[in-house]
Parts: sequence; structure tokens; C-alpha cells
Amino acid sequence: MREETRLKIAIQKSGRLADQSLALLEKSGVSLAKSRDQLLCRAENFPLDVFLVRDDDIPAFLANNVCQLGILGQNAFLEKQALGNGKFESLAQLLPLGYGKCRLSIAVPHDFAYKSIQSLTGKVIATSYRGLLAAYLKQHDIDADIVTMEGAVEVAPRTHLADVICDLVSTGSTLVSNGLVEKEVILRSEAVLVSNKITDPVIAGLADKITSRIKAVLRAENSRYIMLNSPTASLDAIKAVLPGSASPTVMPLQGRDDMVAVHAVCEEGVFWNTMEALKASGASSILVVPIEKMLD
Ligand code: PRP
Ligand code: ZN
Repeated sequence: MREETRLKIAIQKSGRLADQSLALLEKSGVSLAKSRDQLLCRAENFPLDVFLVRDDDIPAFLANNVCQLGILGQNAFLEKQALGNGKFESLAQLLPLGYGKCRLSIAVPHDFAYKSIQSLTGKVIATSYRGLLAAYLKQHDIDADIVTMEGAVEVAPRTHLADVICDLVSTGSTLVSNGLVEKEVILRSEAVLVSNKITDPVIAGLADKITSRIKAVLRAENSRYIMLNSPTASLDAIKAVLPGSASPTVMPLQGRDDMVAVHAVCEEGVFWNTMEALKASGASSILVVPIEKMLD
């Protein structure tokens, strides 16, 4: 019997992207046997195997075709590309995923007299992102020394290992608690779906299917279904306020010829402001509900 062809995807085992990456696959209709301590997790209802690995290792899994898809931070992906001597050139970012947002920044101690990027000339910079930092310094024609550290980069200035640091910043609390101030943003990053060059047509079909499901999940998460009643005379004003909705459905209300019901999918944020503006335009009985799935 021919073995079933299965798509393989690598995601972060633990860390800032792990839970949301797993949740995203589950929302895309992939139900996983819950064995998170293992390297490999088989999907029960989709020909997909999920590798749970360190995000640093995901580009190599893709380059060696152990996996065809991966979810990791752009920071980790672009750093591997920057240092990879072409090894990771064939990997492509398919889709930003909207979570795991952070930035790679240069931060200096409070008492460091920082004026511009020129202030880094001749300084020692500690980082886990040598590739991206070196490219940034080169682009700005700055000559500085880079010290590579695996972790705890934020303590480097205090221990006199370095003058300044270049590290990931998310909430900024690590910088604050270490007396550091963010000065330059080198890269804005979020989780991203990456793929290698898929040659097997069956695998390519599966990858397309899971990618379009993920797109649909992200779209649904950003969209809301709005229902409201509108005076017939205010319909144009109300349509103008509905955010990111091309053509709402307008239906008669039984027994009323001065009012209609309006239903619309809004693909942009629906905030209190939006609802207040709808009300001010004459809308009443406004309901905003989440959308679970959408497919064109
Ligand atoms: C990153 C980074 C900082 C921290 C910043 O580390 O190196 O230490 O997060 O986040 P904050 O701005 O919200 O404080 P991470 O948690 O990824 O762990 P690592 O340094 O051990 O890789
Ligand atoms: Zn850290």
C-alpha cells in the first residue's frame, strides 16, 4: 500500500509564538493529538504532521525539506537569511499572521549620551541578532563591534560586556527594568507563515489548502457582522459609516415602510466610535457579532 502523502509544518514548541501558532492550526480545522512533549504531532483529520521545535531551527527544517511550511517570527527568519550564505534564500514568507508582534531595537543605558546612530561609532553592541544588526550598521556606514550573546542580552551593559544592546522589544518592560532606553528600531516583526519550494504536487495542494484556511481564519477574526435598523431616508448616511463593507444587504421590515434592516460584513475594526456614529446617523437596534469562518 502506498503511504499517504502528508504535509509537514514546523512551529515553535514553547515561547512567545507557541500557543497562538497551535491555536491557529486548530482554528484552521486541524485537530492534533495532544502530545506536546513530542517532536512530532499528527493531525487526525488532515494529512498534516506538526513538528514542535525551537524557532531558530525552523529555517533549517525548511531548507532541508524536513518540513514544507513553518511558522516563526520574521525576526528569527530574517536573521537566518542574513547569516545563511544563501542557504535560506529559496524560503519565502507567505503570510503575516498578526500575532507575536515585536521589534528589534537598539537600546542604550539611561546615562548614555545618544544623539544619533553616529553615537554608536566605536561602541560595543551586544545582540543575538548579529546578521540583522551588522546589515543595519553597514547600511548606515557605522563602524561598531558586535558581541553575540544567546540570551540575557539586557544585562550586558551593566556587566560591562557591551556599551549598548540590540534586542527584541515587545512590551518594553525588560528595557525599563534594566535601565535601558530604546533608540533605533531595526525591524518590526510578527509571526509569519514561511514555505520552501514545494515540488510534489500533492504536497503543494495540501499547502495551498492550509494556507487558504489560515487566510480565512485571519480574515474572519478581523471581521464583524453588523445588523441594524435604519430609517429608509438615512440609508446612504449609514452605509457611509459602515467600516470596510462594500455592499450591505438591505431588507424590508414587516409592517414598516419608513425603516429597513441592514446586514453587513465589516472587514475593519468595529469600535464603540463606529457604533456611536451609526447611531448618530439614525441607526437603531445595532448588533455586532463575531464571525467564526468565512470563505469566498
Ligand atoms: C525577548 C527579549 C527581551 C524580552 C523583551 O526575550 O530578548 O528579553 O523578550 O520583551 P518585553 O519588551 O515584553 O519585556 P524572550 O522572551 O524572547 O526570551 P529570550 O531572550 O530568552 O530569547
Ligand atoms: Zn530576552
